[in-house]
Amino acid sequence: MITLTTDRLLLRPPAQEDIDPLLEMNTDPEVMRYIGDGSLGPVDRESTAAIVSRAREGWARNGFGMLSVITRDGGKYAGWVTLAVPRFLPQILPAVEIGWRFRRGFWGRGYATEAAAPLLDFAFAEAELDRVVSIRHPDNHRSGRVMEKLGLRFAEEAVVPAHGTRVLVDAITREEYAATKG
Ligand SMILES: CC(C)(COP(=O)(O)OP(=O)(O)OC[C@H]1O[C@@H](n2cnc3c(N)ncnc32)[C@H](O)[C@@H]1OP(=O)(O)O)[C@@H](O)C(=O)NCCC(=O)NCCS
Repeated sequence: MITLTTDRLLLRPPAQEDIDPLLEMNTDPEVMRYIGDGSLGPVDRESTAAIVSRAREGWARNGFGMLSVITRDGGKYAGWVTLAVPRFLPQILPAVEIGWRFRRGFWGRGYATEAAAPLLDFAFAEAELDRVVSIRHPDNHRSGRVMEKLGLRFAEEAVVPAHGTRVLVDAITREEYAATKG
């Protein structure tokens, strides 16, 4: 597992102390509006604790995974960024997606883009991926803007088999990413 830093943020592996803010974030209907089929599934302390342990196991298994995003000024849990295999969308596999989720009070400060940028760097430079996708609900324009700022571009539309939701898949290849770096 890795730790990354940006001007304002520390990205570190998920830890026990993240469980309460993670639970708050995952039970906020506004945060969860465009996730899955938009309905809040059962979320409790136990299932949230399982997210933390699964995240740590994922890093060990794949060499990439979820990082908690902590503000350097104040040490607050702002959200997470992740590299993950999008098993919910089998028709685009094999693939690795980059994703993000932030507590509502931390939106609109450029944190998602600032945190995802070094993780995308890591995806190509360290995890040696050839292509990274990002998947969103068509109405999730905020997330679409983050993808755009990171250099991802529209690749295809797909339908999530589990609940029939239409999603947009954006993507960036290793070569395209290198070109964005000049
Ligand atoms: C999506 C999310 C991570 C964005 O976090 P953030 O820290 O606010 O993102 P950033 O500040 O880095 O960038 C957001 C961009 O969207 C823009 N934006 C905000 N509202 C917008 C809207 N309604 N339509 C279009 N763009 C919008 C912002 O202006 C900003 O772009 P800019 O830098 O060009 O001004 C956050 O809103 C979130 O956690 N949402 C809930 C979970 C989620 O949907 N995750 C993604 C699933 S695909």
